Amino acid sequence: MGKYIINGDKRLTGEVSIFGAKNAVLPILAATVIGNNQSTIYNTPNLRDVEIMKKILISVGCIVEKIDNIMYVDSRPLNSFIIPDDLVREMRSSIILMGAMLSRCKEVLISYPGGCEIGPRPIDLHLKALKDLGTEIEESHGFLHCKTDGLKGCDIQLDYPSVGATENTILAAVFAEGTTIIRNAAREPEIVELQNYLNKCGARVSGAGTSIIKIEGVEKFNDVKHTVISDRIEAGTFMVASAITGGEVVIKNIETDHLQAITAKLRESGSLIYNDSSSIKIVGPRKVNSIEMIQTLPYPGFPTDMQAQMMALLSIANGTSIISETVFENRFKHAEELTRMGANIKIIGRVAVIKGVKELTGAKVKSKDLRGGASLVLAGLAAKGSTEVDNIHHIERGYEDFDLKLKELGADIKKVD
Ligand code: UD1
Repeated sequence: MGKYIINGDKRLTGEVSIFGAKNAVLPILAATVIGNNQSTIYNTPNLRDVEIMKKILISVGCIVEKIDNIMYVDSRPLNSFIIPDDLVREMRSSIILMGAMLSRCKEVLISYPGGCEIGPRPIDLHLKALKDLGTEIEESHGFLHCKTDGLKGCDIQLDYPSVGATENTILAAVFAEGTTIIRNAAREPEIVELQNYLNKCGARVSGAGTSIIKIEGVEKFNDVKHTVISDRIEAGTFMVASAITGGEVVIKNIETDHLQAITAKLRESGSLIYNDSSSIKIVGPRKVNSIEMIQTLPYPGFPTDMQAQMMALLSIANGTSIISETVFENRFKHAEELTRMGANIKIIGRVAVIKGVKELTGAKVKSKDLRGGASLVLAGLAAKGSTEVDNIHHIERGYEDFDLKLKELGADIKKVD
C-alpha cells in the first residue's frame, strides 16, 4: 500500500514546477476515441488515473504509447464498445467515455459506477443529457447499455453545473446532427481545455468557460497535437504547503488566473502572494489567520478539491474558521484524521467548524481519498514530530512525485512500501 513518513516543522523554500492537469487530461483522453484519428498529447502527468484511462483505451482497441509526458493515441483500430468493469471500478470518471463512445460507435456498455469515498456521486444528469440527445439506455445487473440510431442536437438544461455531465454531453454532441446547446454548464478551466482540444480536431464547440455552451455537429476529425494545461489543484496544494510551514515557495508553470479563488483565501489567512501570469510566490505567515467562511462552489467559486488542504491550514489558525462543503455530500473524512494530530474540528452535516490550535503533533493517520490524503501530508509538514500517512495510493492518483517535489523544497519526507 505504501506510506509517507514525515518529520515536520520544517519551513519549505525554493521553486516547484507544476505538471499537467489530471482533470483536463482524462476527458481529453476519453475524447481521443471519437475521431478515428491520431492524437499526441503533451504535458500528460504520470498518475494512476491516467494509467487506468490508458488501459481502457487499449482494451477497446486503440494503440496507445506513452513516452515521458507525451501520450500518443491512435483510435483508428478501435474495435470494441465494452468498457471493462474492473477499470471502471478503479476510476469513477471513466463514465465520461459514455459520450465519447456513443459519438464513435453509437453504442457503449459500461458498468454503473458505484459510490466513492466522497459521497454517492449519482450520474442522473449525464444519463438525462444523453437521453435528450437520442440515446436509449438500459440499466440491468449493474450495467448501462447505451445505444443510439444517431444522436441529434438539442437544448439541454443541466439542473446543476456538473463537470462530468457537461463533458459527457459535449463529447456526445460533437458528431450529433445539428446544434446542441448546454445551459447551466460547468465553467471549469478543464471544460475550456476540452473545447480547445476538440476544436483542434475539427469540432465546432464554443462558449466553454461560460454557462452556455454551443456544439455544432461535424462529420469528421483530423489528427491533432495538444498540450495540456497545468494542474490548478496541484498548484493550490503547494501554495498551502508554503503557507502552512511559514515558507517561501515559488510555484511555476501555472495559469495564475485559474487560482484566483485559492489565492484570495490564502491572502485572507495571512500569506503574502506575488504573481505574474505563469508563476506565484507565496510567503507563509508567522501565524495563520482564521477565515470566517469558506464555501466550496463550482468554478469560479472556491474548489471543493482544495477544501481538505485549507482545513489542514486552518487547523493551526489564530481563531475559529468555518468551511461549508456545498459540492459533495460526504467530503470531510480527513477531519477525523486531522483530529488525531491535535486539530480541533467539529462536523455538523456539510459544515466544519475548525478551532485553531497552537500546533499539530505527528501521528499515524490514514488517507481515505485523494485530496483528504494530501491534507494529511500538509498537516504532517507543519506538525511537531513524526507523521505516518498510510494508504498513499489515494494520493498518487492525483500527485506525481509528491514526496520528491516536497523534499526538493526542504521537507523531511520519505516514501516506504
Ligand atoms: C469533477 C472532478 C473532481 C471535482 C468535481 C467538482 C474530474 C475527473 N473530477 O468531478 O475532481 O471534485 O468535478 O469540481 O474532473 N451530480 C449529480 N448528478 C450527476 C452528476 C453530478 O447529482 O449526474 C452531483 C455530484 O454528486 C456532486 C456534484 O454534482 O455532488 C458535482 O459533481 P460533478 O461536478 O459532476 O463532479 P465530477 O465531474 O464527478
